[in-house]
Amino acid sequence: MNTMFADRRKAVGSAMGPNACLLIASNDHVSRNIHHTYSFRQDSYFWYLSGFNESDSIIVIKTDSEANLSSYMYVPPKDEHSELWDGYRAGPKGAVDDYGFSKGYNNHEADQTIPDLLAGCNKVFSLIGYKEDFSKRVAGWVKQARLKDRHTAAIEHLDAGPFLSSLRRVKSEKEIQLMKKGCEISAQAHKAAMQFVAPNMNEQSLEAFYLYKFAEQGSRFPAYTPIVAGGEHACILHYVENDQTLNDGDLVLVDAGGEYECYASDITRTYPVNGKFSDEQLAVYKVVLEAHKQAIEAVKTGNHIMQPQEISEQVITEGLVDLGILDGKTEDLLEEGAHKNFYMHKVGHWIGLDTHDVGAYSDGNNFTNYEAGMVQTIEPGIYISSKSSVDEKWKGIGVRIEDNILITDQGNENLTQSAPVDPKEIEALMSS
Ligand code: GLY
Ligand code: MN
Ligand code: MN
Repeated sequence: MNTMFADRRKAVGSAMGPNACLLIASNDHVSRNIHHTYSFRQDSYFWYLSGFNESDSIIVIKTDSEANLSSYMYVPPKDEHSELWDGYRAGPKGAVDDYGFSKGYNNHEADQTIPDLLAGCNKVFSLIGYKEDFSKRVAGWVKQARLKDRHTAAIEHLDAGPFLSSLRRVKSEKEIQLMKKGCEISAQAHKAAMQFVAPNMNEQSLEAFYLYKFAEQGSRFPAYTPIVAGGEHACILHYVENDQTLNDGDLVLVDAGGEYECYASDITRTYPVNGKFSDEQLAVYKVVLEAHKQAIEAVKTGNHIMQPQEISEQVITEGLVDLGILDGKTEDLLEEGAHKNFYMHKVGHWIGLDTHDVGAYSDGNNFTNYEAGMVQTIEPGIYISSKSSVDEKWKGIGVRIEDNILITDQGNENLTQSAPVDPKEIEALMSS
């Protein structure tokens, strides 16, 4: 049995204190069309606390007055007919034997038994504002528990989001191992794709190549819908149509990362469809690359999360002035936010079980300081659409370079560095 999940339930117990309960729901299957659903992906919080990959389930983690922990899982019942059509179910016994819960229930027993589990608790935690239907059920169970137990202190209903997301924000050794593996799979896919792409290929063929390379190495699903954007499509930040021809002379921006054991990777590389950067493409690329390099250097303990952001804005603004795309003094342009016409998103985000992982970026007063074990993306970009008021030669160039950076006690480690970013290295790889 994997103790990683049981250890996390213990950490939840410590965070909640005595006489408390946490309720978390699994994901449900989502219809794609009649009789067919989208591929099932477990809810990240649910997975974090169980490693259990079935739908229609609920976790209850409970502490008693001495802070002793017990855990319960409500799961789909064993059922020969359903299992013949849809596959194995662990059932309540499996929840105990294979997933280490104190007790398993059939999911249809939830309404009957959960109010009894909650009675006597002083605090009930759930993810408030997260899943509407489940929130309604939790509110009903809390109400019933209050009626059952009128002699103890009132039950407070509290948001589990802050403590669960701060637990998830710092990754354990085991999580780091999984993320390293997933990041390497995706980096290798980018590297192989640079050798695969050719003029006149359709964007969706390149997308399919990435998905194949992810799956071949163990990441069956991408962590998010890949962006495969030839030429000016790169200037649409969330372009996912991926159905146009890749033209000779254009760049292609590919933002694609596989998911490995539910951990995301999130990589962007921008490379020339024909294997050779034009002068203008290279000039813009080098500005983004410098911002990427300097921002990564700022991802370290002792710094806070806004430092790479500010550095990337500074480098991109200076670079755009040098290229004649922006006109003015860097200081004034930064003050005006002139770079936002070309670099309109943030430099990065936490990454983990979710691509845009949970975890606060500030406590309301101060930006979050880096700690060893945090993982964030660094992904500066410049996007010059044909609607921009710039010299024709720059129009239609969109570049982003994105890596996944682990903060360590010594500084940081780039988990996705196997995919080249150096333009000479990219050209050499593409011509080999
Ligand atoms: N691939 C999504 C992002 O870069 O944030
Ligand atoms: Mn990202
Ligand atoms: Mn990305």
